[in-house]
Amino acid sequence: MLPWFQNGAYPLYLAPMARFTDRAFRQLCKEQGADVMVTEFVMADGLLSGEHAWRTLDFTEEQRPMGVQIFGSNREKMAEAARRVEQRLRPDFIDINCGCPADKVTDQLAGSSLLRDPQRLADITGAVVRAVPETPVTVKIRIGWDADSIVATDVGQAVQAAGAQALAIHGRTKEQGYSGQADWAVIDSVAAQLDIPVIGNGDVSGVRDVVRLRRESPVRGLMIGRAALGYPWLFSEIKHYLATGEIPTKPTPEVRWATILRFAELLLTTQYAHKTPDDIRWMRAKLKALTKDMTGSRKVRAALDTIVSMDDLKALAVAQIENQKSAAF
Ligand SMILES: Cc1cc2nc3c(=O)[nH]c(=O)nc-3n(C[C@H](O)[C@H](O)[C@H](O)COP(=O)(O)O)c2cc1C
Repeated sequence: MLPWFQNGAYPLYLAPMARFTDRAFRQLCKEQGADVMVTEFVMADGLLSGEHAWRTLDFTEEQRPMGVQIFGSNREKMAEAARRVEQRLRPDFIDINCGCPADKVTDQLAGSSLLRDPQRLADITGAVVRAVPETPVTVKIRIGWDADSIVATDVGQAVQAAGAQALAIHGRTKEQGYSGQADWAVIDSVAAQLDIPVIGNGDVSGVRDVVRLRRESPVRGLMIGRAALGYPWLFSEIKHYLATGEIPTKPTPEVRWATILRFAELLLTTQYAHKTPDDIRWMRAKLKALTKDMTGSRKVRAALDTIVSMDDLKALAVAQIENQKSAAF
């Protein structure tokens, strides 16, 4: 049993999100109480062919338990990539991505396209399990390819038999992309049938969802993606509520802007240390994500679209805090 499920623990995972859950963002979430985190997905072939792909796998000891998520369609390459990850990074687990709906991934018969070939998915899982005897292997899936092929139960049983130690399920099909709603009835049904822990994922957006799911769903933990992307404080809100029954006060504009600035600094001093503070246009999307539900967030995002340097960002933060203060009078 993975340690973070022991003694009835109910871990909150930060969902892997390519281009967003980098080392700096994970640090913000860890500080707010995220229990388990996973790197952005990385292609097995990339890990075998050069150094570039390894950059996104950077993590700190404080971020443990940390999983490294890999994807691919070739059993031998997936096994070899997992072996190298184990030797080089010693993650707490290796996660196999079988949920990505992007064409560039499914065209290579990887990600969610493995849901159309459960045998291949199980073979890959088994090969990775055998390749990394010292590292637990987990799998992340969607519930199926489309509404006519909901395969989560069969796939769950196959990966469990192949040695996976947990299964995260995003309750949408590949065809759905991010439309519609996550189908928690399917997630619950799989969770009730498997021995390994199932982590439920999809549309968990606040304390109320967590309280309800903890009461009603047999999943053994939750994975939170988009809701945390704009608001890492969600983890501490949930933890605080579960411990006290009270929802804590929201972070002030000062705290939110201080966090945005610190996040930008962290990006520039860790994973993106090769970039210059004079041109931070590449981080606009990352910064904009953190303004979700802020007062006047549409205008704030438009302003973030004009910044070029760290100095611009600092000036914007000062102006925004002043704005908020005068609006409060
Ligand atoms: C921008 C973005 C990038 C994502 N990248 C990954 C990824 O690298 N690996 C993965 O397994 N899922 C990825 N996902 C899917 C999320 O992990 C999660 O399953 C999905 O967002 C549903 O959870 P939510 O409703 O809490 O957001 C990504 C989602 C988004 C929005």
